Amino acid sequence: MEDTNRQVLLKRRPTGMPKPEDFAICDGPVPDLQEGEVLVRGIYLSLDPYMRGRMSAARSYARPVDVGAVMEGRVVGRVVRSRAPSVGEGEYVLGGYGWQLYSAVPARSLTKLDPNEAPLSAALGVLGMPGLTAYVGLAEIGRPLQGETVVVSAASGAVGAVAGQLARRAGARIVGIAGGADKCGYVESELGFDACIDHRSADLGGALDRVCPNGVDVYWENVGGPVQQAVFPRLNDFARMVMCGMVSEYNDLEPRPGPNLMAAVRKRLRIQGFIVSDAWQRIGEYRAMAAPLVRSGELKYREDIVEGLDQAPEAFIGLLQGRNFGKLLIKLGDDPAATA
Ligand SMILES: NC(=O)c1ccc[n+]([C@@H]2O[C@H](COP(=O)([O-])OP(=O)(O)OC[C@H]3O[C@@H](n4cnc5c(N)ncnc54)[C@H](OP(=O)(O)O)[C@@H]3O)[C@@H](O)[C@H]2O)c1
Repeated sequence: MEDTNRQVLLKRRPTGMPKPEDFAICDGPVPDLQEGEVLVRGIYLSLDPYMRGRMSAARSYARPVDVGAVMEGRVVGRVVRSRAPSVGEGEYVLGGYGWQLYSAVPARSLTKLDPNEAPLSAALGVLGMPGLTAYVGLAEIGRPLQGETVVVSAASGAVGAVAGQLARRAGARIVGIAGGADKCGYVESELGFDACIDHRSADLGGALDRVCPNGVDVYWENVGGPVQQAVFPRLNDFARMVMCGMVSEYNDLEPRPGPNLMAAVRKRLRIQGFIVSDAWQRIGEYRAMAAPLVRSGELKYREDIVEGLDQAPEAFIGLLQGRNFGKLLIKLGDDPAATA
């Protein structure tokens, strides 16, 4: 065990695209334990688009990270010291421990992980918050029917990959949108989407018309911007737009003019945002359904694992530029369960 803790702090609030100078990397003491607490050494840190919102003071559904505080984030780690009878050293746990190597946390706040159920890292992606997001958004809003056309943006990413595969299992025809030929190839050949369009291609609307000749019944919105503008007019009557996120606009200094939402009234569309934390009680149900599929290889996922906490700022910036390919994780330390 190291004798120092390393942390990434939010040094100042970014303006537009975050820069490495917006963060500070600091070494400090490994925290002491109070009675009832355990010391967790991080193994994987999840980096997610929502973190851009936490860096901003703008009003949102969650409190921003304070300037000077450790950046917020979910971590899978191992208990290295325990002052709680219910948790033993060596156990694997999941929690919001932030961008740091060590944290002292109350044992009652822990979620224990079984490394035999699935790789530990999956608890941050396909079997965790992004997977649950896809599951809940489809079940409660998208509700794809047999033969319908479902379009998923950021299709190779953590949420999009699961959303598309689950919609396909419901019998829908699935069209992905992703950035670049590599991602599109992966979405079609590995994830089994019926087609995938590169959003960087010149004529996104024309490409959508070609692969969605009957229009779009469900649009899974992950990115916003020009992709949303291309898909929106192609929505059918009674289409459902799953407003999951609009990552391409997260760095905007001013909100962009939106689409004409009158069409939502005219076509009786249902456009509904949602926050996965409202459905957190369904994580057990989701994992019970998805973990066997992950083990059997029917539910595919891809991880983009970057080595070392110091790389977190750069890796996060890369995520906002599409440089990650799959669920972006920071490897904070050895994953004994991966090699066991
Ligand atoms: N509502 C909720 O509760 C909830 C929960 C989790 C996630 N989300 C949202 O779901 C979305 C996907 O999250 P994720 O964790 O699965 O991330 P991800 O898809 O694994 O990574 C982000 C991806 O977004 C795409 N992107 C980034 N900038 C873009 C731009 N300017 N134009 C077009 N595409 C761009 C890139 O893919 P391409 O290169 O393929 O474009 C990038 O790889 C985000 O909007 C996130 O905020 C919402």
